[in-house]
Amino acid sequence: MFDSKNSLQLSDYAQLQLSQEEMRRFGYKVIDTIIEHSVVLKDKPVVNMVGRQQMEALLREPAPQKGAKWEDVFEQAIWDIFSHIMHMNHPRLFGWVPGPSNFVSVMADLLATGFNITTGAWMLSSGPTQIEIIVIDWLKEIIGFPKKAGGIMVGGGSIANLSGLTVARKIKLKDKIENAVLYFSDQAHWSNERAAYILGFATDQIRKIPVGADYCMDVEYLRQQIETDKAAGLRPFCIIANAGTTNTGAIDSLMEIYAICEQEDMWLHVDGAYGAAAALSKEAKEMLNGIQYAHSLTVDPHKWFFQPYEVGCLLVKEDRWLAETFDMTADYMRNLEESMNDVNFYGKGLQLTRCDRALKLWMSIKIFGLENFSSAIDRGIKLAKYVQDLWEEREGWQVMSDARLGIVTFRYAPASLDEKMIEELNDAIALAVADDKFALTPTTRLNGKLVMRMCTINPRTSEDDILETVTRIQMIAKEVYNTLMVKQVVAEDTTAAMVNIEYKYMQKQNS
Ligand SMILES: Cc1ncc(COP(=O)(O)O)c(C=O)c1O
Repeated sequence: MFDSKNSLQLSDYAQLQLSQEEMRRFGYKVIDTIIEHSVVLKDKPVVNMVGRQQMEALLREPAPQKGAKWEDVFEQAIWDIFSHIMHMNHPRLFGWVPGPSNFVSVMADLLATGFNITTGAWMLSSGPTQIEIIVIDWLKEIIGFPKKAGGIMVGGGSIANLSGLTVARKIKLKDKIENAVLYFSDQAHWSNERAAYILGFATDQIRKIPVGADYCMDVEYLRQQIETDKAAGLRPFCIIANAGTTNTGAIDSLMEIYAICEQEDMWLHVDGAYGAAAALSKEAKEMLNGIQYAHSLTVDPHKWFFQPYEVGCLLVKEDRWLAETFDMTADYMRNLEESMNDVNFYGKGLQLTRCDRALKLWMSIKIFGLENFSSAIDRGIKLAKYVQDLWEEREGWQVMSDARLGIVTFRYAPASLDEKMIEELNDAIALAVADDKFALTPTTRLNGKLVMRMCTINPRTSEDDILETVTRIQMIAKEVYNTLMVKQVVAEDTTAAMVNIEYKYMQKQNS
């Protein structure tokens, strides 16, 4: 371990270092590999998953006592690890919410990690902290939040929802949660319910409000539920409204819900993890009207702001609420706290040590410009409409929710089939599409019906990608349908044969 000439002198490896020459070669290799990957990505399968046993066989080993050559470990990472992933930025990954990402932000992440930046306190990183403040101001402006609003970058939408509800609990309830009731639609992302659970709300303090035919919260039902709860001596406390549901891109009626919050003195949290980015869209901005009045808002730049994982953001209407909720201290924090005028993000959220999440957003907005973000978002919205048009002109296919904020759902429903068979058919089609690996269109349920879903927000998805995907799904669907029909005929024949045998047997018994 120690160098022989000087017992306190560690070798490079023992300092956990590579030589300059090795670092350079390693670094260039990494960058070249990332670039090469981005060039060939569209020709790769969307996903390559294997079973746990295969992964165990491939990767399991005891932690090595001796080091190995970086070239070998790098190759292992590329071939054995990274070749078994779902490419969330693949142009034909239409599942859930894709993460299109962008190269500039990847470089920003590399820089932030390379400089080992931590953004917990001003004293630790005045430059990066200032950038976080500026990026939050940009987001505030995009959304239309007031000047006195504040925010913080977090790991993603789930943490932003949790942080937002923590602020709501503190500011609105002074942490006294007895009898307080939370309302959200049955289409709200499950991270909201989990946040409520983590914060101590019992299931009987949560109301899941049904949605209308447009998958938006039924506001009349909400009003009545609030009245019922008040009459029962409960304390309606917070409404979580959706600005773009994960299922269908539905935006709750934000202005109406805001008016209820005003009237009832309730907190309005808006989950805009998916849809808030549409504030940059010329087409969709109008639909988000009311979002600017939220007490707290989740934005999730690693979705439709095209950032690599992880970066989410919580915005709150009054910046001071964050410190009032999260700030705590200890003796060893003295020097970090020294200047009261400085911004210390450790006192505004859940983490003390925090990576630099704002830099990538800042760098990509600086390099590409907001106009290009807007165009990319508008195009994602149009692509979903294009998908809808393609399904509508195909016989036997039904659009189950209109294209909205870049999301459209559909299913294959040949007239001859009943609901149960349609369900079985679409489940099998989605599995066959996944097996095919050309594109990915996983299923969800709407009103209990199984549907396939496409989210088209990747700006590198071409119209050809869309057309080829639809054509291929249609072809796969026909094959699956035929197989299902053959199976059914065989099953019917078998049943008929069984009935026949039973009948003959009974006849024999009776004779
Ligand atoms: C509407 C909505 N809210 C919250 C989340 C959770 O975000 P994250 O996965 O970044 O934690 C998602 C994720 O898809 C979402 O669509």
